[in-house]
Amino acid sequence: MKNDMIEVADMKKIVAETAVDSFVKDGMTVGLGTGSTAYYAIKRIGELVSEGYDLTCVATSVQSEVLANSLGIKTVDLDVAEKVDVTIDGADEVDPGMQLIKGLGGALLREKIVAAATVKEIIMVDESKLVSKLGTVAPLPVEVLQYGHLHTRRALERQGCVAVLRMAGGVPFVTDSGNYIYDCRFEGIDRPYFLEMAIDSIPGVVENGLFLNTAYEVLVCDGKGSVSRMSESVSQSGGQREIRVF
Ligand code: 5RP
Repeated sequence: MKNDMIEVADMKKIVAETAVDSFVKDGMTVGLGTGSTAYYAIKRIGELVSEGYDLTCVATSVQSEVLANSLGIKTVDLDVAEKVDVTIDGADEVDPGMQLIKGLGGALLREKIVAAATVKEIIMVDESKLVSKLGTVAPLPVEVLQYGHLHTRRALERQGCVAVLRMAGGVPFVTDSGNYIYDCRFEGIDRPYFLEMAIDSIPGVVENGLFLNTAYEVLVCDGKGSVSRMSESVSQSGGQREIRVF
């Protein structure tokens, strides 16, 4: 039987190009995410710039900044931009309520700061990133100061996880801001808001990879190359938060 499923890299490219074409307009200030899906989005933004779009871009990592500049995309420091109209970024997990885990690419701190300055945070993923509960597939990355990090690790583990120092080439991975990352393996995160508060109150923690109520829209590419969209809507009855898929 013929297998019509496409490769993960193709899904990433399709969803990234759809996200850019749907949300990036001439004259905007655009946040550039980090990772292998963001790579395709930045490439597409480079094409728009070469077609004449006047975009001001803010990168969420040195890696994305270098790529953007190599494609002729102008980048500025976040503080030069008053606000960011739209940020296009990937994610490691997306739950049915559009809550996210990010940071396996190591850029969670700047990604969260840029997201907080962004009007519309657009997340693009392939369908393998969809989970019924956060923390069931990916670990939760937590960026910590190098100073006293073994003590920070013990405090993280008291939250019910196994915390593993991220390594690169046999030495600890160091983020763009000079910190370490602990990848915290939970057996599912039941109460992400409580966990976020608990983690953030640990001395030495700089930022965590829970991105709660951050996404304006999530675009998902399936194995056949179709892109569906999740967005928040307020229910007619009682004003509760609901997620619409279309
Ligand atoms: C980087 C991130 C990435 O968005 C996330 O890891 C997804 O990466 P990819 O698109 O390569 O699967 O949060 O810090």
